[in-house]
Amino acid sequence: MRLIRVKDYAAMSDEAFAIVYERMSTNPRLTLGLATGSTPVGLYERLVSAYRTGKLSFREARSFNLDEYVGLAPDHPQSYAYFMREHLFDHVDLPAGRWDIPSGIAPDLAEECARYEAAIEAAGGIDLQVLGIGPNGHIGFNEPGTSLDSRTHVVELTESTRRANARFFDRPEEVPTHAITMGLGTILRAREIILLASGESKAEAMARLFSLNDFDPELPASSLHRHPEVWVIADEAALSRVRV
Ligand code: PGA
Repeated sequence: MRLIRVKDYAAMSDEAFAIVYERMSTNPRLTLGLATGSTPVGLYERLVSAYRTGKLSFREARSFNLDEYVGLAPDHPQSYAYFMREHLFDHVDLPAGRWDIPSGIAPDLAEECARYEAAIEAAGGIDLQVLGIGPNGHIGFNEPGTSLDSRTHVVELTESTRRANARFFDRPEEVPTHAITMGLGTILRAREIILLASGESKAEAMARLFSLNDFDPELPASSLHRHPEVWVIADEAALSRVRV
């Protein structure tokens, strides 16, 4: 795990962009693993600008998102499918059919999880996975207690995660109770991973991440200690409680 320490959110987004840009320029057929939430918004803005200025094309790329809420249709404004269209897909030339997100409204969720794993596999796996981290150390929606070899599955969200995400909904009780997420095992199969963290609300999770040197199920992000190619890009506030 390599740490890139930066000043603030903008610098974090610049560093993340530099890595994604370099990998996509080298391999236009790159398969990306993408994340939602506040953290990657700056990265997506930079990718959209690079596309608009002709520096980058997504025509041959592919993407798979980490997760989706159960019960929200893709046109629901709080669904992650909607988020991705709003922040990235509607603004770049990634063809429809080359991005995939688990369906939270599939009639058979177990079948949808199996379909998703198979689709990632059929695409040749994920080359570069972008991750945020939850205040409780989750990655994707893999909450504490998730096993290392888990694959795409349905999870019940913890109260802490529902609280953290309530800011996006009109009322806290509207936050879905379940989600579909890539498992830790799915994430660890990506060839390269960047974990982004910005702000004081991530400081405790980051301190715990760096106090461990192997997987602890209580901190799902610590599974990244088992992966050979991880970049952690974090700002000063997120690293404020990390003891060097
Ligand atoms: P955030 O969420 O980017 O909105 O902070 C990250 C996460 O919960 O994984």
